[in-house]
Amino acid sequence: MEYTGIDAVVFGADDLKLARRLFTDWGLRKVSDRRKELVFATRIGSEVIVRAADTPGLPPRLEEGSQFREVIFGLANRKAVDAIAENLAADRAVQVDPDGTVHSVDDNGIAIGFRVWRHGLEKAEDGTAWNGPGHRGRLNTVGPVYEAAQPFKMGHIVFSVPDTRVAEAFYRKRLGFFLSDRYVGGAGVFLRWAERSEHHNLFFAKSRTGKVDLHHIAFEVRDIHEVFGGGKAFVERGWKTEIGPGRHPISSAYFWYFKNPLGGAIEYFCDPDHVDAGWTPNNYRVNRFSEWHLADGLGSGTDASALARPSLAAARAIEQGTPVKLKRDQTV
Ligand SMILES: [Fe+2]
Repeated sequence: MEYTGIDAVVFGADDLKLARRLFTDWGLRKVSDRRKELVFATRIGSEVIVRAADTPGLPPRLEEGSQFREVIFGLANRKAVDAIAENLAADRAVQVDPDGTVHSVDDNGIAIGFRVWRHGLEKAEDGTAWNGPGHRGRLNTVGPVYEAAQPFKMGHIVFSVPDTRVAEAFYRKRLGFFLSDRYVGGAGVFLRWAERSEHHNLFFAKSRTGKVDLHHIAFEVRDIHEVFGGGKAFVERGWKTEIGPGRHPISSAYFWYFKNPLGGAIEYFCDPDHVDAGWTPNNYRVNRFSEWHLADGLGSGTDASALARPSLAAARAIEQGTPVKLKRDQTV
């Protein structure tokens, strides 16, 4: 189906001011700021769109209190978008905007959209230089220090649903997604939109309440330094950790989740596994959410001992220090 990524996520917010502060502090770039609509972008260009809750035409809330309204997937070309529209029109309503965006709904009632990807593509130079045994890619350069995150893209979105098998069948059979892993008994299913992709671009977890809702949206950042630096900055601006930082055994990614006042959570993550046709899906029996994690990040955000760590100041001092000129043969 030639998916390119999550093109946009749409919220219908009760409090635009709060949403503006949230996504600004999260590190997204503000694209536009109107009285009833805010548009923020990741570095690659994919968007978080926040409209006033009473905006006509917004898809309905999934649950009381949840402000998530729609996820829009980007595809490589018009042909791929049209193929999806034709497929879905066989058994459900499909609307097409004047700009060609297709809107419909999945088998759990989640509003889904499709359009030709309008944003950038990942380039090799986007990578971080890193050092490890056998790979010494960063020479004479201190490691990166981030005073705030700048999310690169939305890597995956997760929903709670009453029946993950229904979700799996719909996204695999109707939308061409691939199975990456499952939890036994329908407890969860990890899907990806291309045979070669991150381990998961969609995850459905069995809902404990039987309701359908957004669980979280995950924003990929460059590296673990940015997970830590971005997460720390977000806490210092007063936002609350949901869980983390920590490491997922499934996908191997490092994570830090925060409470999202618009519903569910938002996650910084980095270094996910990439898989292709050579990957064999697993059926996990026990919950493998975390290999390890901190329960609450830096704590409440008011813990002076946590916030007074000198790491950032020390790093700045190194960066701003005057180089010492050594005479020949002088080693110190
Ligand atoms: Fe995640």
